[in-house]
Parts: sequence; C-alpha cells; structure tokens
Amino acid sequence: MEAGAFVWCRDDKGDEAWLYCEVLKKAANELTLKEKSKGDVFTRGVESRNEETGETKFDGVELANTPLSEEEKQEGRDNDLITLPHLHEPAILHSLSDRFFRGKIYTWTGPVLIAVNPFQRLPLYTDDILEVYRRDGLLRAQGMQSGEDLEPHVFAIADRSYRQMMSDSRRSQSILISGESGAGKTESTKIVMLYLTTLGAGSGDVEEKTADEDEDEDTKELSIMQKVLQSNPVLEAFGNARTLRNDNSSRFGKFIELGFSRAGHLMGARVQTYLLEKVRLAFHAAGERNYHIFYQLLRGCKEEDHVKYEFHDGITGGLELPMFFHYTGQGGAPHLREFTDESGLEYTLKAMRRLGWSEETIDNVLSLIAGLLHLGQITFNSVEKDGMETAEIADEKILGYSSRLLGVDVEGLRIALTERIIVARGQEIKTNLTPEKASDARDALAKTIYGALFLWVVDQVNQSVGWENDSDIRSSCGVLDIFGFECFATNSFEQLCINYTNEALQQQFNQFIFKLEQAEYEAENINWAFIEFPDNQDCLDTIQAPKIGILSMLDDECRLPKGSDRNWAKRMYDQYIPEKNQNVSENTRFQATNVQKAKAIFCVRHFAGVVQYTAETNFMEKNKDEIPLTAHNLFETAPNKLLQDTYAIQQRENLGRSADEDATAKGGKAPKQKTVGQQFKEQLSSLIENVQKTDPHYIRCIKPNDAAKPLMMTRKRTTEQLRYGGVLEAVRVARAGYPVRLYHTSFYQRYRMLLPTTSDEDLPWSMEGHEPQQLCVKLVDFVLEEGSKHKAATANGPLNPNEVGITRSEKIRRMQAEPIPMAFPKTDVQLGLTKVFMRKHPHDCLEAHRVFHQHASATMIQCWARGLAAQRQYYIVQDSIQTIQRTYRGYKGRERYVVQSQSLYTSFFILSQTHMMLHFLSTDGPACARHRPECCSRRFFVCLSNGVHTIAQNEERFDTKPSSVVTIFEGSMLQSKSNSTIDASLHTRNSGCSSLRLFLSSVPHVLELLASS
Ligand SMILES: Nc1ncnc2c1ncn2[C@@H]1O[C@H](COP(=O)(O)OP(=O)(O)O)[C@@H](O)[C@H]1O
Ligand SMILES: [Mg+2]
Repeated sequence: MEAGAFVWCRDDKGDEAWLYCEVLKKAANELTLKEKSKGDVFTRGVESRNEETGETKFDGVELANTPLSEEEKQEGRDNDLITLPHLHEPAILHSLSDRFFRGKIYTWTGPVLIAVNPFQRLPLYTDDILEVYRRDGLLRAQGMQSGEDLEPHVFAIADRSYRQMMSDSRRSQSILISGESGAGKTESTKIVMLYLTTLGAGSGDVEEKTADEDEDEDTKELSIMQKVLQSNPVLEAFGNARTLRNDNSSRFGKFIELGFSRAGHLMGARVQTYLLEKVRLAFHAAGERNYHIFYQLLRGCKEEDHVKYEFHDGITGGLELPMFFHYTGQGGAPHLREFTDESGLEYTLKAMRRLGWSEETIDNVLSLIAGLLHLGQITFNSVEKDGMETAEIADEKILGYSSRLLGVDVEGLRIALTERIIVARGQEIKTNLTPEKASDARDALAKTIYGALFLWVVDQVNQSVGWENDSDIRSSCGVLDIFGFECFATNSFEQLCINYTNEALQQQFNQFIFKLEQAEYEAENINWAFIEFPDNQDCLDTIQAPKIGILSMLDDECRLPKGSDRNWAKRMYDQYIPEKNQNVSENTRFQATNVQKAKAIFCVRHFAGVVQYTAETNFMEKNKDEIPLTAHNLFETAPNKLLQDTYAIQQRENLGRSADEDATAKGGKAPKQKTVGQQFKEQLSSLIENVQKTDPHYIRCIKPNDAAKPLMMTRKRTTEQLRYGGVLEAVRVARAGYPVRLYHTSFYQRYRMLLPTTSDEDLPWSMEGHEPQQLCVKLVDFVLEEGSKHKAATANGPLNPNEVGITRSEKIRRMQAEPIPMAFPKTDVQLGLTKVFMRKHPHDCLEAHRVFHQHASATMIQCWARGLAAQRQYYIVQDSIQTIQRTYRGYKGRERYVVQSQSLYTSFFILSQTHMMLHFLSTDGPACARHRPECCSRRFFVCLSNGVHTIAQNEERFDTKPSSVVTIFEGSMLQSKSNSTIDASLHTRNSGCSSLRLFLSSVPHVLELLASS
C-alpha cells in the first residue's frame, strides 16, 4: 500500500460503502488518501500491526484490483470473481455493480452464483437461450467443448447439477437458493425448475408443453413436467403475500425435490415446506396484505358465488370487500403491481384443476377461506357472569356464516371462542374468557385452521406431483428456496429460526468449500494439512445443543406452568454468562450487556454478524403454538371432511415421526405436542442430512435496492446482503489457506520486475522456451535472496543515495521511501502445478515492492521524458533563431546583391563603353562576324592622364588630346590577361554565354590586347 497505489476505503459516513481512493502518502501510522471522484483528501490510521513481519493493516483500507479493460470485460474475464487477485468485500461489490449496470445480473464467485435482481424482465430466459445452455451442457458432458464460454446464468447452474446427476455416480444434487425477501429466490427457483423439468421431460412432453398452453381444457391429464410447474401457482396463492419488500413474498421455506429416472427423465416431485408465517393471518402491517388467496376470492369470485360465501355488498357499508374484512383490510388491501387478483384466482383455479383437484374439493377449500374471513369478523361483547367479565358473541349471524362455511358445529365454535378448558389431575375445568382473550382465541383458531389448510395443500400437491415408486427414482435434484439471514431492529422467534437455518446451511457450505479446496490443493500437489478453516459449529451448538442450547432452554421454559420469556432469558444468562459483569460467553457466540440483560435482550454472534433478540416478543407462545383443547374438540367433531383431513395432517406434523411410539409408550395417552422449535430442529436436521448426501450448488440472490426499481443499486444495502448471504464468508473460507492464487505466467510476468538488476541469463525476461514453474521457483529464490541482501545492507540504516559509482536508477531507488522488507517464510508461497498459492503477507510484500519499483521506474522514465522534452524545446528554439538569422542574413545579402549588381551594371556599362571607345579608336578593330558594324561599333575616346583613364564619347570633353580612340564591339568576349578577379559575373545580353571578367584597372591590358589583335 505504497504512495500511488489505488485502494478501497470504507465509507463510514455515506451510503457508498466503499470509496475508490489513491494513496497520496504513507507514513508509519497514517495513510493519506484522495478520493478519486470528488477529490476529497483524508487520512486513515493503523488498525493492526504485525511486529514480526512488519505488516501494517490500515483501518478499513483494502488494495484495489487493476481495472479490467473493455476488451477483457467483453471476453468475460470478470465472469468469476474468484479469479480476482484481491478478493474482498469492496472488490466483489465493485465488480457486481459494474456488471449489473452492463445488464449482467449473474456472476460466479467460485461455486456460488450471485444473482442480482434486475427488477425488470430481461430477455434471458427464452427457449433459444435455454437451448444454448442445454446444448453446451450436453457437449461438455460428452467431453467436448462448445467453443464459447457461456455467461454465468441460473440455467448454467441447473445444467451443471443435471449433468453431474447424470454422471456415472448418479449422485443426487441440491441447489440452495437464499437471499433476503424480494431478492429473487422464488423467481430463480422457478427458472431452475423450468430448466430441470425441460431437460427431464421426454421429447413428447416438451411438445405437449406448447400444446397445453393453448389448451383450454383444464382437466386434461398433464405430463408430470406440467404438473410440477403447476404446483407453484397453488403454493404461492396459499403461502405468498404482499409485503413492503415484495409483492409476491413467500412466507414459508420450501424444498422441492425433483426425482429422475436412470435415463434422466423426470418422474415426479416432492415438496417440503418450512415455517409458514401464521401470524400474518391475524395481523399484517400497513401497506402489506394477508395471503393472496383471500384477495383472489374476494375480488375474483363470480357474482353468483357471493351469496354462497356470504359476501353481501350491503353489509360492507360501502367498503370494497377486502377492506371490509378485518383479516384482509388492515394494510389497506392494496392491489398487486404485476397481476390483478381476479386473474390471480383464475390462474390458481386453473392450476388446482390441472393438479387434479375435484370441483368439490376446490369448493370446500374456498368455503374454508371464506369461513376464515367471517371468523375474523366475529367480535365480542362484555357481559358479567358470576361477577366475572366474560365474552359474548356480538353478532350471532356472523358466527353462523363462519360455522357454516368452515363446516363446524356452531355451538362447538362458540365454545372454542369463548371458553377455555384446562385439564388438571385428569379433570377438565372450564373457564370463560374475557372479550380480549376471546379475540386472541379467535385469532389462534384462525391461525391453526389456516396452518393446517396450508399443510393439506402441500400434501395435495405432493400427491399430484409425487412419484409412485421409490424404485423408479435413481437420483434427485432438490431446490431450496429459503429465507436468508435476517437482522431487524427487533428480532423474535421467527428470526432466531431463520438465522439458525442459515447458520446450519452455512456450516454445510463451509464443509463443502473445504472439500473443494482440499481437492484443489491435491490437484495442485500442495500440502493442505496445516490450513485452518472457519467453523461455526459452536454457534450451532449454542442454539441447538440438548439441555443448554437456546432452543432447548426455551422448550424447558415452555413446560413450566409459570414459565415466561423473561425467565427463559435469565436461564440463558445463567448458563452462558454466569459471572457478574461478564458480557460474552466462553464460546464467544452468546453475549449480553448489563443493560441488555435488564431488558431481557440477548445477542448471538452469527456468521453474518451479531443479532440482538428481544426475549419478550412472545418467544414462548410462538414456540408452543398450542392448539387449545376446545379447538381440538372442534376439529375432532367437525362434520367437514376437509377440516378433519387438515387437522390430521397438522397432528401428524406436530407430533412428528415418533408420535406412534409416544402413544404406545404412554399407554394410549395423548402424545405430547412438539414445540415449533423441536419440529423445526428436526426438519432442519433432516434437510441438512439430505443436502449432505447430495452435491450442493449455491445461488445467492441480491436485492440491489429497496424501491424495487430497475438499474439502481444501493451499495450499502448490497454490501449488507453480501455479508448476510454468506458470500463474503464463502470467500473467506475459499481463501483461508492461501488466499492469493495466480497462474505461473501471471505470477512471473507480474513480479519479474522486482529484480531489475538480475541478469537475463539468471532470470530471463521472456518466458518463451522456459518451464513456467521452474522460473517461478527461481524467481521466489532470487526475491528472498535479494530481500536478505537488502536487509544486511540496510542493517546500519538506509543506503546513501549520493554514493559515488551507483547507477542513476539505483540512486532514484535509494531516494524513495522503503517498502516493507521482502522477507517471508518460503512455505508461505506454494508452487502448485499450474498456480502459485500465496498467503496474504508475501503477496502484500511482493505488491509493495512492485509499487516501489514501478515508482522508481516511473521516476526514471520521467527523467528521460523530461530531458527529451527539454531537448526538443531547445531544438525548436534553436531552429527558430537560425531561421530568423537566415532570413535576416538572406535579406541583407539580397540587399547587398542588388547594390552590388547595380554597381556592376554600372561598371559594365562603363566598361562596355570603354571597349566601344577602344574599338572606335582603333582604325580597324577586330571584325566580328556576328555583329553588324553599325550596331556593334561605338567609338569612345580615352584619355590617359596621370595614370587614370577617362572615357568619353566626345573628344571635346577632354582638356588634353585623347591618348587613344577605342571602338568597342558590344558583346564580344574580351579576356583580360590579368589575374584579377571580379566580384560578380554578368551575362551580356547579346552573347548570352560569355562572361566578362574585367577589372576597371585592367583596361590598359585590354587596350594592349586590342592593339595587338
Ligand atoms: N430474474 C428476474 N427477472 C426479472 N424480475 C425478477 C427476477 N427475479 C426477481 N424479480 C422481481 O423481483 C420480485 C421478487 O422476487 P421473488 O423471487 O419473489 O423474491 P423472494 O422470493 O426472494 O422474496 C419478483 O416479483 C420480480 O418482479
Ligand atoms: Mg419468495
């Protein structure tokens, strides 16, 4: 983390979660950072320091990965985050968000598929795309490559599990989907099921699928594939509700097991559900809704059925039906955004018929729903009986509606609502309830009936889609759609169960990753024995251990006649933090401060973080989930067959598998009902047992924003989910031993530059023709040797940058701040067959030195670049000066030339006159063939006086007699015998080629010449 490095810095104040920053300065105790987008500069202190290695961890600062280029992204280099050199929260967050905005909602993180909810319909699930994945899977299964690496997709994970299932071992598979509400679990489950059922369907079934879509005949016998797909709408109608987070939120956990024959044909399915949120039946918050089926019936049923269900518009006082009923109107009965309830009912009825339900059964179910709605309308008057305040049904008519529609005896219902029966010493004691308690009894009854109805619906689905003979099933693929980790302001029993489930699944996940890691280490021929893996068994024990586990203590408390939530909390404090002022249990998973103890609050440190549970939120009541004796009697005597069936299933669930044993053991006495905690523990352990027998696959769904808007990502919320969804934990497990893994070539190419002075013979710069693993071994040896040499050299302080004889780059290096020493145990770097495995410290060392060398090289390059720039500048200036000089000199030269040539012309003129004169003076001058005497000859008079010739055309001009008379032929070539030179050469106009090389002073010679010729 040297100056110049790019890092992610935790955003403690804003919503960004992490900020992309550049390290401006690194001091021993402080890092100065500059935020890249806004340019804010701030500092970060030290979080921890390892004195031995010199490693310093700065608070909330993580090294950033080198950004990928557009081409690399196009190639899909970011498809799997596990390949990132730095794999931590900000790196994952950054990559996910980058991909999300490029429309890529799926990303691998090793074996986990992260699915970010797009909140818009993307064209990712068409038949064509399904076919591409199917074909690719088929080719791979046959050991062939399809040529292209397909994008991460739910289809890919479904395909992987199908192919694995069809491999020789025929091992069963499971796809575990988790995420918070609205993250897309149910949608992903549907996509997985669509893919698996399509693959598992015979070719005839697939054709039938298309044909069925146009078919109006609902009762037509469907293929198993169709039935399995049709089970979803029915389960969703009874188990899904609109919440503030999700319009179609599943309020139960679900494990669907698809059974396949040896040939890979889908034979049927089995559905197991977990923890239906029964509280919703009696209460839902503003803006939310009860289960869909109520609204579908109220808004969608035909006019003529209104009488049957006693939905009389006249009684609603002008309110819309869903607003009128207490159980449906508490949240304002909002409509769904994607579907209407009218079409919802049609869809549900169609699915029920397709699953093979008779019209009578459907009618009974809907009557029960209407009966529950009327049950919720029953109110109580307060009357005095034997001096006690007791409840009396306010409106007998509504009681009548309800009992008729529920199919129970009206008197039995009245008793169930207004009386309580306690059995003491074998005797039944009846007490009257107050109006308030009667309302509670009404709600408890409604919850029980609905809970039982839901179990019955699941049972019916199982009967429709289940396989006939277990022997037909060779292997199965289970899909788990289960609530993710939850942490609210107030957490209650539901959150404890949900988080317990996630804790158990996380443990299973850890073990799975451990196995994968083990396989990778073995494949790479690396010793893995000394690697520690995270383990959350202690947390699971804290919750589930017999006697001292949180749930066991809750059960114990439930058995006490005077048990209370507060007593239960005290029990736990005594068990886990018995010392005065002790806050944290010895196993570190349970904690509570004194203030929390006073409020009966306790905290559990889960794998995803600490969750604070408030004991006084009806833990005991929710755990007991008791059916009052009056309700038992009501069910047992109910004439309605449906109600009896639902009750039987409820009893079967409550009493569990050991019910019969219990009954015989206690001599026919009614077996004790299991608490919800016990039931759940059993269900969960059976689920984990099942999963452990399979090859698991993981999909973690992420909700990018709470507003359910497309193309929007709240980074802080996304980070929370990565943490809670166990993605980061997965990464932690995956990177527990040697977290950094680089292929040999990448390793060598990245770190060869740490040894700039090592010669090419010792350590070649090019890897061509060399064995990569050998090169890496050598590189590590050299690096360590260099490190120890440097340590010895700097034992007496830093090296002198001004030392004589060192190279310029060495000088630059010595002038820089020293990085952490390059020293680490050799075992911290393991050379596998294809990859180099590194622990964090050696990796940090190498990276620090890399930055250090990059800086030195950058400074060196800057030296050269700056020198070159200065030189270039110099040349430009020099050239300009020379140009100016040249131009000026040229100008001057031309100026002189003009002057000189004029003077030459002048002199020539004079000379030629002289010549002419000489010619004229000579009586018979040289004959010139080319010149006519009249034009060429001119006569001049030359007078020599005191050694100076004076030339004139007129004799009278001279004072004395001319010494000679010269006739000059213009243009004739005259040669001077003198050696004198002339400044410029001139062309005579007539001859065109001859040059006159004359000197004024040579005139006498010319005269001589002429005289002699
Ligand atoms: N892959 C997807 N494509 C388009 N929309 C989706 C996708 N996954 C989820 N959604 C949207 O998000 C909503 C909530 O998804 P759902 O699967 O019901 O969440 P969960 O089961 O996790 O609570 C869906 O109703 C749908 O509108
Ligand atoms: Mg759901």
